[in-house]
Amino acid sequence: MATAPRGRLQGKNAIITGAAGGIGLETTILFAREGASVLMADISEQALAKALEKVKEIVPDATRVETVKCDVSKEADVQAMVERQDSWGGTDVIFNNAGIMHADDADAIDTPDKIWDLTHNINVKGVWYGSKHAVLSFRRHKKTKGSVINTASVVALVGSATPQLAYTASKGAVLAMTRELAIVHAREGFRFNALCPAPLNTPLLQDWLGDDQAKRYRREVHFPTGRFGEAIEQAHAVVFLASDESSFVNGTDFVVDGGMSKAYVTPEGPATVPPKNLAK
Ligand SMILES: NC(=O)c1ccc[n+]([C@@H]2O[C@H](COP(=O)([O-])OP(=O)(O)OC[C@H]3O[C@@H](n4cnc5c(N)ncnc54)[C@H](O)[C@@H]3O)[C@@H](O)[C@H]2O)c1
Repeated sequence: MATAPRGRLQGKNAIITGAAGGIGLETTILFAREGASVLMADISEQALAKALEKVKEIVPDATRVETVKCDVSKEADVQAMVERQDSWGGTDVIFNNAGIMHADDADAIDTPDKIWDLTHNINVKGVWYGSKHAVLSFRRHKKTKGSVINTASVVALVGSATPQLAYTASKGAVLAMTRELAIVHAREGFRFNALCPAPLNTPLLQDWLGDDQAKRYRREVHFPTGRFGEAIEQAHAVVFLASDESSFVNGTDFVVDGGMSKAYVTPEGPATVPPKNLAK
């Protein structure tokens, strides 16, 4: 279903990493709908091509949407990605969202070294490189405001008895790093906020849960709403953080979790009805 641009991000050049699916794709669609020019970045070229088609179908009159292959754990890739927007007038917004949760990630004893390193190279160094090259670009283009949104997770805030130690530690690092960057760059007008999504209905988690009902229930029961979150619910929060509406929102752990991290005993009864994602 095609929707007309509304303009909350009119005139802004935005980069979204991990844009080929899940949160990144829904955010691309909303950004395009709000008038932003968007550079979609992902490690998978094939998935990017499909995602771009989807965006063009849903927002046919998007200002500008392009794709770039980028492995965020490689600084040269990230630099090239950000510099791609030099000819557009420079980056105004970057959503450092690409991240992995590896199936072999485990507890203190069983997490393999190589999984720790892989996870941290993507989830932490990727966010650092994205933040670094965004700041360089903001300065190069003499921007007086810029918004950087980094995807962390609720596991950086609450403990889980089903450990993914490398992932959890990486997301804690994203929170701490984002907070510090927010303070360092505040007088330049560059804002940094961390998005903390709860477990979602995206392939990252759902493929791993499969149809194991017990495993699923163990997580679902913690939601006051009785359901996992949807990618579009994260994307709406990112639009706010990217826009000038959030000009005084800086250094936050922006939690979008349906109340999960504030809950003790959760209600019984049927789950609430989730909103529909646009890409599906
Ligand atoms: N899904 C959840 O339950 C959940 C919860 C909390 C936080 N998160 C975080 O949200 C972010 C997005 O997750 P999602 O659920 O949309 O996942 P997803 O798996 O649907 O999308 C992630 C995208 O990142 C891309 N990617 C992977 N490695 C990359 C790399 N090295 N360089 C560039 N792109 C790469 C993938 O190809 C994919 O398109 C991640 O950082 C994830 O850790 C997800």
